[in-house]
Amino acid sequence: MHLHKYEKYWLMFGIGSLIVFLLITGLMALNNSHETPNSQKTINPEKVSEIAPFNKPGVHKVAGKDWDYEVVVVASAFLYEPSEIKIPVNSKVKFIATSKDVVHGFEIAKTNINMMLEPGHISEYTTTVNKKGEFLVVCNEYCGMGHAEMHATLKVVD
Ligand code: CUA
Repeated sequence: MHLHKYEKYWLMFGIGSLIVFLLITGLMALNNSHETPNSQKTINPEKVSEIAPFNKPGVHKVAGKDWDYEVVVVASAFLYEPSEIKIPVNSKVKFIATSKDVVHGFEIAKTNINMMLEPGHISEYTTTVNKKGEFLVVCNEYCGMGHAEMHATLKVVD
């Protein structure tokens, strides 16, 4: 088969573009595979109060899951809903939290629970609470004038 010079160029250009295209899609696929499903959980920060489970902040007993309780927390300047969390000792608990406005922290003093709550993202942490007592939940991300006053209480009871 005889090809004119310009036809060869077009053929090379076509093959070249195909290779570039394949490389880009391949790289994109590689990139996506690094993300875990958890880090992908997003939410519209303006509609937090309307979206489950955040439409019902609080402590919920659950059945048929790997944990016994779900603690749903909504943070906003400068408070947590709920302001008091009460759970029986030795329960396996999943904390599910988000922010309605700016970045807040969710650190429970004297425990290993420490999450960053970003607007638009859902933060989750599952743990077993095995120490009885009252624990202070504090915001450890500077969020404005009321930052130092932003706290809640975790009560681990019998
Ligand atoms: Cu909320 Cu600092």
